Amino acid sequence: MRIGDTVPDYAIEVRNLKKSYGNFTAVNGISFNVRKGEIFSLLGPNGAGKTTTIEIMEGVRTRDSGIVSILGIDPGKDRKALLNIAGILPQDFNFINNVTPMESLRFYIGSMSAESDPMELLAMVELDDKSNTVFEKLSGGQKQKLGLAMSLVNDPEVIFLDEPTAGLDPISRRTIWKVIGDLKKRGKSIVLTTHYLEEAENLADYVSIINHGEIVANGSPSDIVRENHDHDTMVVHVDDQTVMRGIDLGVNYTIQGNSVTISLTENAQFFSVVEKFRQLGINITDLTLKRESLEDVFIRMVNGDNSNEN
Ligand SMILES: Nc1ncnc2c1ncn2[C@@H]1O[C@H](COP(=O)(O)OP(=O)(O)OP(=O)(O)O)[C@@H](O)[C@H]1O
Ligand SMILES: [Mg+2]
Repeated sequence: MRIGDTVPDYAIEVRNLKKSYGNFTAVNGISFNVRKGEIFSLLGPNGAGKTTTIEIMEGVRTRDSGIVSILGIDPGKDRKALLNIAGILPQDFNFINNVTPMESLRFYIGSMSAESDPMELLAMVELDDKSNTVFEKLSGGQKQKLGLAMSLVNDPEVIFLDEPTAGLDPISRRTIWKVIGDLKKRGKSIVLTTHYLEEAENLADYVSIINHGEIVANGSPSDIVRENHDHDTMVVHVDDQTVMRGIDLGVNYTIQGNSVTISLTENAQFFSVVEKFRQLGINITDLTLKRESLEDVFIRMVNGDNSNEN
């Protein structure tokens, strides 16, 4: 349970999930919950174990141990039941080269006895103008949009998206974000893997940061930043750098040209530094304060360490 929970209403529960490939441990006992109607993001660097985890949740890969429940279904035992309620967009989605988006969707809708309208799905992902272009002629982003549309044909309750916007331009990325946001508004539960900090920060209600198969932080993006906050940066411009000679501000700082970059580990230091400048009669011509972002925290947590990269 998360802190503050009284009656949890989880769509997904993962407990102590483990998966090894030979003697290499890819996922080492991770646990998390996804609330109904929530966007949950598994955020981590290349090779962290995101695809392994999400594909176990999709019933595509087997797990070694642990519990996985998707709306009460164990994907390792009843994949058929899972596919009735889940939509899946795999990483690097691919399809048959000489088939058009319209044909692909019609085929999927027919095979799942679904009732969705292919043109409506294509319009939703802004691919209606390519409805009759064969798959191999679609751009990378267009292929990805088709994959997303295909994952939604059965109006699923739970949607798994493995790096849905990898390699997409900023406009296409926002189209996909909007589709994901609209799905959430319709009460769908969404699991999204990404290594784009901006994506997790913009979309996710709850994030688990995974590194080397272990969860290193949990929470809303703002909670993760607050709890793992190290320092903020204050940049002050002065008239002339010589005024800073030999001055003790009580905190660490560096000088470059007429800019003084000051590291603040506590909020109160901001005021004491400003007061110090005032007492010393040093004129501040400009002042900016940069709070740490999820990216700053993430980079520190994974320590720039990509030694488990493929
Ligand atoms: N079928 C497999 N056989 C052996 N090792 C594998 C297999 N699949 C994944 N791995 C290894 O497990 C680790 C986790 O891989 P996974 O694909 O889950 O990472 P990921 O977080 O999705 O990375 P990316 O961001 O690059 O997609 C990697 O070190 C990878 O090489
Ligand atoms: Mg992956």
